[in-house]
Amino acid sequence: MEEKEIMKIDGKTRLCGLIGNPVEHTLSPVIHNNIADRLGHNMVYVPFLVKEEGVENAIKGAYELNVLGMNATVPHKSAVIPFLKEIDPLAKKIGAVNTLVRVDGGYKGYNTDMTGLNRALKSEGIFLENEKVILLGAGGASRAVAFLCASLGCKDVIMLNRNYEKCVQVAKEVNDSTGDEVIKPMELSDYSQIPGDGYVCIQGTSVGLHPNVEDCVIKDMDFFNKVSVGFDLIYKPADTKFMQMVRQAGGRSYNGLKMLLFQGIDAYELWNDCQVPDELSEEILKLLQAD
Ligand code: ATR
Repeated sequence: MEEKEIMKIDGKTRLCGLIGNPVEHTLSPVIHNNIADRLGHNMVYVPFLVKEEGVENAIKGAYELNVLGMNATVPHKSAVIPFLKEIDPLAKKIGAVNTLVRVDGGYKGYNTDMTGLNRALKSEGIFLENEKVILLGAGGASRAVAFLCASLGCKDVIMLNRNYEKCVQVAKEVNDSTGDEVIKPMELSDYSQIPGDGYVCIQGTSVGLHPNVEDCVIKDMDFFNKVSVGFDLIYKPADTKFMQMVRQAGGRSYNGLKMLLFQGIDAYELWNDCQVPDELSEEILKLLQAD
C-alpha cells in the first residue's frame, strides 16, 4: 500500500479555527495549515460552523479548550465583540472583528481584513496616506475601508454609493470618529463631478462578483480616465470587469486575493508571535490562485 503523508498531531498541537455560517467554502485552512507546515509550527486550523445563537458559547468554549486563536467570518464579525476580553482600537472603530487572539482570561479582537488590505496595497507600492482615493460602495466592506483610510491619515476620500443616505451616514460616522472631514459622500450617479484625475479607486461593492462577471458599478470610460490604480476587493473572478476597465483606461489594477492572503498572514503572525517571510507569502498566494 502506498504510504500517505499524514499531518503530525501530538500532545502539544495547538488549535486555531474559523467560526462562521457558512464555512465550507473558506480558503483560510489553505493559508494557515500551509504556513504552519512550512514554518514547523505545531498548529492546525479548522472551520467551525457556528450558528448566531451559539457565538457566546463558542468563544467561551474555545477559551476553555485552550484554543490559540480564531477567525470570525460572516455573519459573526460584529456578534463576537461583546464576548471579547479586549479589542484593538481600529477594530473597535470599525465595529467588526475577524481575528481573535488568545490573551489572559479571553480573546483580544482585531480587524486583520483592514490591516491585510493595507499590507496588500503596500506590497503593490500603494500607500493610501499619500493618495487621493475614490471608494465605491458604503456597505460593510467599504465602511471598514473608510475607517482604514481615516486611520491612515488620508486627506481626500470620495465615497460613492447608489444609496446616498447610507453613504452620508457612513461618512459622518467616520468623520465624527476622526474629527476631520476625510470622507466626502457622493451619489453614485454624480461621478462626473469628481475633480481631476490620478485617483486610487477601491471597489467595495458586490457588483461584478461571480457569476455576474460582466457587471461593473460604473461603465463609463470618462470615470476610469480619472483612475490610475484600481483595487477590487472581489477576488472571484480574478479579473473583474472593474479591473479590466481600469486597465483599458491605462491604469494598473489588482484583485482582492492579496487582501485575503494578508488578513490571514496578519492573523497567523498575531497567534504565533512570528513574521511570515515574503517568499512564503508568495508561495501561499500561488496556492490560493490555483484553488
Ligand atoms: P458588504 O458587507 O460586502 O459590503 P453590503 O453591506 O450588502 O455588503 O454592501 C453592498 C454594497 O454594494 C453597497 O454599497 C451597495 O450599494 P447600496 O448601499 O446602494 O445598496 C452596493 N451595491 C450592490 N448592488 C449594487 C448595484 N446593482 N448597483 C450599485 N451598487 C450596488
